[in-house]
Amino acid sequence: MEKSLPLESPSMSRRQLLNFLTGAAVAATAGAALYPAGKFFVPPQEVGEDGSIVAKDINGNPIPARQILDSPPGTRALVAGLAGEPTYLTVQEDGTLHPWGIVDNCTHLGCTFPWNPNDNQFQCPCHGSRYDKEGRVVRGPAPLPLRLAHVSVVGDYIRISPWTDIDPRTGKKPWWV
Ligand code: FES
Repeated sequence: MEKSLPLESPSMSRRQLLNFLTGAAVAATAGAALYPAGKFFVPPQEVGEDGSIVAKDINGNPIPARQILDSPPGTRALVAGLAGEPTYLTVQEDGTLHPWGIVDNCTHLGCTFPWNPNDNQFQCPCHGSRYDKEGRVVRGPAPLPLRLAHVSVVGDYIRISPWTDIDPRTGKKPWWV
């Protein structure tokens, strides 16, 4: 018996092709429309290859860089940095961030401390140590300068990475490395 060719096949194929093309066009349009929203909602990479992390707020949410960069020059913004340690970021006169952050951990016995804008110092309330704006000891009993961390703005966020280079304040290997 002679086999008849299925008459439906060619038209089904055309329909499938049309469906595919239509679907692809819809997907491409939707993708293009959603790209900016998707980009906005993609969370920043947690730990970078350089050991960096994204600066976060007290609730553990990434802080948009704009939020800090829009602050007046001289602002010391406290963020959660490496290992969640509070770290001061400084807004410079030109509106950029100072390339090093200062870890809010007194080198005497580990208290946290505020920035005193009137004296232009970090002043530890526990035993009176004072540090200049770059974290050098101005008055003891703190024995060592404050730890540093690298700070950079990458895309919409601020990244903080370990400081293992020469300490620019002493010209020597950092004491914490
Ligand atoms: S812990 Fe800061 S001065 Fe003692």
